[in-house]
Order: sequence, then C-alpha cells, then structure tokens
Amino acid sequence: AIRPRPLVAGNWKMNGLVLGVNEFDAIATGVAAREVGRAEVLICPPFTLISRFAAAAAGQHIKIGAQDCHPKSSGAHTGDVSAEMVKDAGASYVIVGHSERRVCYGESDALVRSKAEAARRAGLVAIICIGETQAEREAGRTIDVVGTQLAGSLPAGATGANTVIAYEPVWAIGTGLTPTVDDVKVVHDFIRSRLVEALEGEGHELRILYGGSVKPSNAAELMAVDNVDGALVGGASLKATDFLGIAAAY
Ligand code: G3P
Repeated sequence: AIRPRPLVAGNWKMNGLVLGVNEFDAIATGVAAREVGRAEVLICPPFTLISRFAAAAAGQHIKIGAQDCHPKSSGAHTGDVSAEMVKDAGASYVIVGHSERRVCYGESDALVRSKAEAARRAGLVAIICIGETQAEREAGRTIDVVGTQLAGSLPAGATGANTVIAYEPVWAIGTGLTPTVDDVKVVHDFIRSRLVEALEGEGHELRILYGGSVKPSNAAELMAVDNVDGALVGGASLKATDFLGIAAAY
C-alpha cells in the first residue's frame, strides 16, 4: 500500500515564552530550506503562542497546532479554550487525549472522542493519543489497553484528512526509554488493523505517529517500521537542531 505522507509533530507542552520564538524561527527556516524529508512538519506550542507562530508560519510549509481543546464551541467554561478558538488563532491541528491530560485531569476515552469531534466541527485535524503505562505493559495488557482507548476515542467517520493517531507508551515519554522496533511494529500493526476494521479502506489513510523519547539518533529506525507514519516529539522539539534532525529522517 502507498504510505500516507508522514507527519512530524512537536509538542512543546508547557514550554515557551515569547523569547522562545527564536527557536520556532529556526525550525521554520529549516523547513523552508527543505532541510527536512517529505514529512509535513507541525509545531504545537502553548495556546499563548499560537497566534504569533501562525502569523510567522503564514505562507510557509510549517503547520501550527494546539495541545488540547474543549468539546463545546463556546460558553461558561472558565479557563477552557474551544476548537473554534484554536482555529481562529490560526492553528490547523489539535492534540487530544495526551496521556498527561488523561492522567492529570482524568480525561476519559469518551471525553477525548468528544474533543476529536469538536476538532472536526471546527475544521481542525485531531491527533488522538493512546498508549499503555509501564504497569499495563508488564501485565501483558498493552494491546488490550491500546485497543480499548482507540475504540473509545476514535470518532465515527474519521478520515485520513481529519484524524491522526499517536501511539505514545506512557513509560517512554520523557524517560529516554523507547520500545524495541519490534514492539513498536506490533502495536502500530494492531492499530492499523483496528482502523481498517472500523473505517474500512479509509483506515489505511490515517497516519499513525509514534511518540515517546524520539531523538535524531532513533528517528530513522522508528520511521523504517511498518505503519509508523511519523513522530510526535516532546523534549527534542524544543531544540531546532534536534527537531530538524528528526524531521530529516521522515
Ligand atoms: O507528545 C509527545 C511526548 O509526550 C513525548 O515526549 O519528551 O518523550 O519526546 P518526549
């Protein structure tokens, strides 16, 4: 099968002040200079930097995304930001269901699905994150957990144009640990088979990203794995040289 165009996404998490714009500019410049492979390149800064980065990215080959959104479009939800607002600020993607939100805010699969539906309503691409904890992996429950999260978080009628899946083993996030390429292949192949079961032919079109301690030194071996269609990068996306080094492998 023809593989979808890879996506290399940087999740800046709660990092980045206006001063950090230099790093963004360096990434955008590298993308413009085609220092990256054929991948689509995306940066998801905190909400406070979306407008600024979107303005800087106008007319460039770099996309901007948010890290979360509320399921509703507006209303009495103090402190929340809707998918429509994210779109209005100039973003085209939004991450939903990151493990840090599932853990810190108790986000359920149903809530994550409603956020992915909100993204679609607003015209954003949703990046739905799933992944097992260390205890779940040790108990041999990885496939079970990933399957349940995927089934519960994926909206009906998802397409390759509006939805991306990110497999992030929780124990690999920010730890420097990564699964073996064989372990990554098992999970990504499983996700692909479930997508095809749920969405038929369209299931081949959704990109499945790997996330968790992706670095320039392991990006190429991860990208070589079947059904790995890109990366969701945390720490290494904060340094332009590292992030561009990763993107160059995709
Ligand atoms: O969303 C990306 C992230 O959770 C992975 O973080 O720092 O391990 O690349 P990191």
